[in-house]
Amino acid sequence: MMRNRYYIKTYGCQMNFYDSERLKTLLNKEGFSEVKDLETADFIIVNTCSVRKHAEDRAISFLESLKSSKNKKVFCLVGCTPSLYKEEIFERFDFIDIICGPNSYKKFVNTLKEYSGGKIGLFEEDEILYQETLVPYIEKGKITSFVSITKGCENFCSYCVVPYTRGKLISKPINIIIEEIKILIDKGVKEIFLIGQNVNEYGKDIGENFIDLLIRIHDFDEILRIGFLTSHPKDISDDLINLFKKLPKLYKHLHLPLQSGSDKILKLMNRKYTIDQYLKIIEKVKKVSPNISITSDVIVGFPYEEDVDFEKTYKVIEEIKFDDLYVFKYSPRPKTVANEYPDNVLKEEKERRHQLILNLQEKISLMRNMKMVGEIDNVFIRKKSIKKEGTYIGRTFNNKPVLIETDIKDIEGKVLKVKIIKGERHYLWGEII
Ligand code: 5AD
Ligand code: SF4
Repeated sequence: MMRNRYYIKTYGCQMNFYDSERLKTLLNKEGFSEVKDLETADFIIVNTCSVRKHAEDRAISFLESLKSSKNKKVFCLVGCTPSLYKEEIFERFDFIDIICGPNSYKKFVNTLKEYSGGKIGLFEEDEILYQETLVPYIEKGKITSFVSITKGCENFCSYCVVPYTRGKLISKPINIIIEEIKILIDKGVKEIFLIGQNVNEYGKDIGENFIDLLIRIHDFDEILRIGFLTSHPKDISDDLINLFKKLPKLYKHLHLPLQSGSDKILKLMNRKYTIDQYLKIIEKVKKVSPNISITSDVIVGFPYEEDVDFEKTYKVIEEIKFDDLYVFKYSPRPKTVANEYPDNVLKEEKERRHQLILNLQEKISLMRNMKMVGEIDNVFIRKKSIKKEGTYIGRTFNNKPVLIETDIKDIEGKVLKVKIIKGERHYLWGEII
């Protein structure tokens, strides 16, 4: 009997979750089926992240914790971590059977079909990559989906491992993106998030551009909401900023990683913008779309980050007042340029700076959300909330999650007028009017 049951666990960014859903589509098409119970699985697949050491360690120790139950299970490590370390993985973790990089999932599925033992490493890119449609697995009733528009990245920020794990920038042809969106619409999808490491660079390798793509997608009547991430400050154009006013179905939300508030550190990070330039973008964006929500990433404890540099980051965050912020402690990564720098901010100091910014952001996010109380908004209702019986979760025009208690049934996928009645740190509360 063919071994066909797989269990899959995913770590990391949206791109990784998206990859896992696309891998499921490929596997299911070939007669495999997903199981939610580890014990019954023939294949254990862990899709890994390498962006920080902590993420890497978590993924591998999850797999390691299962190795004693090895009876007839095949252990597969896929995604960014195997791409970074290649066959070295087998030397360090001898219980792993198959490793596969993020661009070889078609080969991976074929390998699982024929697998009869031994160590296998798959890194050569699939020829079909971006040449034919491949949509994520959509569970029944799900109305939102990611669509990747680029893979890889060539910006080489000095701390980032992605150029080494995911390779150079390749844009998905517009016709393939449009075909994929049509397939998703047929499956009931009404909300699309376009994803890529730096979506603003979409098309530069194939003579297309991101603005035209957004306008094309906006034309689909069935698509009610569109979002995108991630943007790089060096590539944001006025044309893109103006779309926040021009395209009503586009979420008024920009995720724009800042990384540091110090020009000295930004330079060492190879980010290619200054704080002044960053602030000018924010100013323009807020002018075009006053209630836009802006979120960001920062790294604390980067090599040579002194107190004065950290204070600049703290000040800029106080000034901009992001709606939300992801704060990371610097983690040296193999192959990157920053890996050659001394990791000279002490662990306790990284911890202290991390906590200071988290505390600051707590207050700012709460304040930003409380400011929305009283507003009436067209909210896109996504699904029932697991937080509380009779509660739905939706998204405001600026992509904030809002919880709505109501007796009205079957409102998923609708856009309804909602009044915001309460703002908390992570959620808004609203009522249908
Ligand atoms: N150490 C800490 N944080 C990192 N990020 C990327 N690489 C590193 C690293 N080596 C953060 C950046 C990026 C986010 C996805 O992860 O802030 O925007
Ligand atoms: Fe995503 Fe980066 Fe992690 Fe790879 S390393 S999964 S691209 S966050």
